[in-house]
Amino acid sequence: MSSYEARFKVWRGDVGGGGLEDFAVEVNEGEVVLDIIHRLQATRAPDLAVRWNCKAGKCGSCSAEINGRPRLLCMTRMSVFERDETVTVTPLRAFPVIRDLVTDVGFNYAKAREVPAFVPPEGVGPGEYRMMQEDVDRSQEFRKCIECFLCQDTCHVVRDHEENKPAFAGPRFLMRAAELDMHPLDAAGEAGLDRGRAAQDDHGLGYCNITKCCTEVCPEGIRITDNALIPLKERAVDRKYDPLVWLGSRIGRR
Ligand code: F3S
Repeated sequence: MSSYEARFKVWRGDVGGGGLEDFAVEVNEGEVVLDIIHRLQATRAPDLAVRWNCKAGKCGSCSAEINGRPRLLCMTRMSVFERDETVTVTPLRAFPVIRDLVTDVGFNYAKAREVPAFVPPEGVGPGEYRMMQEDVDRSQEFRKCIECFLCQDTCHVVRDHEENKPAFAGPRFLMRAAELDMHPLDAAGEAGLDRGRAAQDDHGLGYCNITKCCTEVCPEGIRITDNALIPLKERAVDRKYDPLVWLGSRIGRR
């Protein structure tokens, strides 16, 4: 493929407002959108703000929206666009803009702190943990998460509803709750923490109506909805309506 000139629209601005700026920019074989943003910085807009780090799809920093779809700038090849197509790059919509393509993703760190950490089983030291391979494999999928927050950005529960943010942890952290709830060695239950109930009551699991948008944008291909959120919902409901659990909670209250 020879070089060609592509048309780009890039959002420029800050918390006070902004708009799309037009650019015509050279594209070479094998390049990704982040290469083009770097070329713009080098040649046309040295003050264009963009967050990035590894350029290998592993740090989760260069999240933005390309033609309205949440994507990693470094993992989006220019070859997926027609040469005469205008490529529009905008910041993540669900989070406040700091400047240009950089948003404040602090919401996610606040939500991360709200999910109680793994509780080590009593009397089992580091290096003594034993688990079935299928339990390891199950949680391994969730641990591929690079925390790019594309799933958090695309989920309609918060994307268009700022008012839902206090009550909803978002798919990334509901997946974390699910991972811990499925962990055979997590001793949260013995410590008095019901992770399923906490997901419902404290992290807004009920807001999720399994639209699967989070799964569609995950660059790691994690099946967030099918393998984490739906099982978490099922386990939470099972526990709530299980007659033995109900009886136990009544006896426990006496
Ligand atoms: Fe949102 Fe994913 Fe549920 S996009 S509604 S958390 S399936």
